[in-house]
Amino acid sequence: MKNLPLGKGFPALGLGTWKSAPGDVGAAVKTAIDVGYRHIDCAAIYGNEAEIGDALKAYVADGSVSRDDLWITSKLWCDSHSDPRAALEKTLADLRLERLDLYLIHWPISLRPGASFPLEADDFIGRDELPLDELWRSMEALVDAGLTTHIGVSNFNADKLTSVLDGARIPPAVNQVEMHPYLQQPELLELCLRRGVALTAYSPLGSLDRPEHMKSDDEPNLLEDPVIGSVARDIGATPAQVLLAWAVQRGTSTIPKSTNPGRLAENLAAADLTLSDDAMAKIAALDRHRRYVDGTFWAAPGSPYTVEDLWGE
Ligand code: A2P
Repeated sequence: MKNLPLGKGFPALGLGTWKSAPGDVGAAVKTAIDVGYRHIDCAAIYGNEAEIGDALKAYVADGSVSRDDLWITSKLWCDSHSDPRAALEKTLADLRLERLDLYLIHWPISLRPGASFPLEADDFIGRDELPLDELWRSMEALVDAGLTTHIGVSNFNADKLTSVLDGARIPPAVNQVEMHPYLQQPELLELCLRRGVALTAYSPLGSLDRPEHMKSDDEPNLLEDPVIGSVARDIGATPAQVLLAWAVQRGTSTIPKSTNPGRLAENLAAADLTLSDDAMAKIAALDRHRRYVDGTFWAAPGSPYTVEDLWGE
């Protein structure tokens, strides 16, 4: 397995657990670990950490996998920015762990405790009330307390990432953002590589199983892209494997979600594929700045946040 140079090694291919239903996710994590995954990407808001914790505990307890060999990421939900420590302690209790490898600020959006969708104006905490540098200091305190080895961010654009990096005592180790051939973001990737921040690409397969309210009618389907299909045929791989191999070859880590045993193994094997320069160039030409997770749900009426400010575009 390829690792990114971060701490004990950050496995380039991890398991995504967003949209993995309670009842399915535990089996998916078990199958994933059995076939060789060592990096599991979680988040409190996915609502499935307790079941993931049950699955992890079984391996660590019987000694079949050492805790040191696993890389477990989780994320601070937006309604817990006033007390990240309490949120992380809940996540650790659910995951049955003493320490995370990586804890991310899930979004640069702050909500009042307990706020839920659909959001109303009163649910938001504006940036003036809770500046990002103040939030980052409470993330640094989690490393000091030994509750997580690394901290990082998610859905941060170049300006927000730079601002956190410039003011940090403990710099963000990772920025996790949507990234795939239709949203290649070369400038953000270059910034991360230059400033020593690992980039994790989420929704690498286009997240076709997103909730309907997060979809639009005219969405292009990455898995059916003819260029991806022809590269896949040339190397005897599947389109999903080409998408994942592309992510790993660009120096990112990536976290495809699956609960299907065959696809879990197929996806992991993609980390060992090599795409030719010609294939990489053909895929580079597919960029169309298309977000599947566009963040419009943060721009509810009365919200102090805008989609333009979120992505800086
Ligand atoms: P499933 O869980 O049934 O395998 P993303 O990681 O971009 O969020 O995409 C997840 C979606 O892609 C899920 O619908 C998942 O379905 C599907 N998927 C995962 N692996 C593959 C694969 N190898 N081929 C086709 N679809 C896949």
